[in-house]
Amino acid sequence: MKKPSTCVTIVIFGASGDLTWRKLIPALYNNFKKKRLDSCTNIVGFARRPFSKESFRDHLKQGVVETSPGTFDAKTWAVFAEKITYFQGNLDVAEDFKSLHVYLKKVEDGPVDRLYYLATAPEHYAPVAANLGAAEMAHPSQGGGWRRIIVEKPFGVDLKSAENLNLALHAVFEEEQIYRIDHYLGKETSQNILFFRFANTIFEPVWNRRYVDNVQITVAEDLDVGQRAGYYDEAGVIRDMFQNHLLQLLALVAMEPPSSFDATSVRNEKVKILESIRPLALENTVRGQYSGYSSAAGVAQGSQTPTFAAVKLLIDNWRWKGVPFYLRSGKALNRKVSEIIIEFQRPPHLMFHLKSDSDFTPNILSLSIQPDEGIHLRFEAKLPDSDQEMRSVNMDFLYHTSFDGAPLPDAYERLLLEALDGDASLFTRSDSIIASWRLIDPLLAGWEKSESPELVIYKRGTWGPRASDDLLARDHRTWRTYSPGTTK
Ligand code: BG6
Repeated sequence: MKKPSTCVTIVIFGASGDLTWRKLIPALYNNFKKKRLDSCTNIVGFARRPFSKESFRDHLKQGVVETSPGTFDAKTWAVFAEKITYFQGNLDVAEDFKSLHVYLKKVEDGPVDRLYYLATAPEHYAPVAANLGAAEMAHPSQGGGWRRIIVEKPFGVDLKSAENLNLALHAVFEEEQIYRIDHYLGKETSQNILFFRFANTIFEPVWNRRYVDNVQITVAEDLDVGQRAGYYDEAGVIRDMFQNHLLQLLALVAMEPPSSFDATSVRNEKVKILESIRPLALENTVRGQYSGYSSAAGVAQGSQTPTFAAVKLLIDNWRWKGVPFYLRSGKALNRKVSEIIIEFQRPPHLMFHLKSDSDFTPNILSLSIQPDEGIHLRFEAKLPDSDQEMRSVNMDFLYHTSFDGAPLPDAYERLLLEALDGDASLFTRSDSIIASWRLIDPLLAGWEKSESPELVIYKRGTWGPRASDDLLARDHRTWRTYSPGTTK
């Protein structure tokens, strides 16, 4: 990993918020501790709340202590904290950006690179970009090194708003300056998908419709919407999880091999695969809501917001023609697990005697994103001391045993480093965002207009509504989840 070549200032808009406290500062602190931040990095928080430099640092320190207890140490923090200052301002007031500019020039002591981070509520993204433009802070030609901007999710609430947000950003920044975050792409295990597929020779030949029966992507959470009901009730599971995380995981699994690992090649292939997904048929979708959701604080009475969805997708290209991709995600489910299952076809002819068909499990490859971080291949083996009985067994790769037990870094650590380094491979390009909304928009509109599929209330702690199992049962399939020692 190259280090930034000159001094850099990271300006965080929305610096008094939860994301800064829980993710951004701990990630920057951990990068600093690993000596991956340049010694002349400045971090400037911008928000409305009246903090002094000291009280802001104390506030952030608590965040690192709580979210990163394994790496916090007071001595390193004291050196790191020296880099952090605070500027009180209003995101909607253009004058405050001009004052910020003056302030930055004082802090920076000469021309430097700048990374702006939009950790604000989404309605501020466009105004902040406009204000940065008006204050002449968006382009290197206006003094200093490079200028980049990181935009948090959600990126729009539908196709139209995403297009408008792209326009607002492009009015001020070039596409190359814009880094749209999807934190799932920063997870080590997601990044490893491309390494697994394209740094090995034995998997790619079977990675297609000739050998794969179906692909399943599960991103399940055991927690409910908690304190975020206000946001979530507007968003729902499709906007919150499918438009971004699940479709990006699908793209990594299904895309063609890029010719190189640079951002343009990787992102070209991702767009192609997203654009090859067939428009969703409503009968291939399931929506659910966990029981008790609509009476939770912050949720509109009688809310129809889905907290669970399952969909069946088809990809119209040579590699995947006819292979269903089943995606599901939800809150208040059985457990927290993010996992991709590649289920292979049955052997064309099985010469062994089975007591019943259900005794046989096809080969299954599990790419486990979290919390069990690893890869597992399930295959059939002869049960010792039996005539023709077989059992499914696992071949396991686990990060913590293969890589010295070192905990995997948080996604934000990697993403911040990549943005500082100017590598946008792990960020979503504007056309990719648009392609995903093109797919999602008709689904949301269809659900709004139609009674079908009905919104099913599901019990907390389950795998969601029965209809989700039925979606696969219709195709004579079942959801698979890897857990050590089981065959389902
Ligand atoms: C966020 C969603 O993008 O991802 C949350 O807004 C969700 O609702 C979270 O809980 C899940 O992320 P992770 O990394 O915990 O799987």
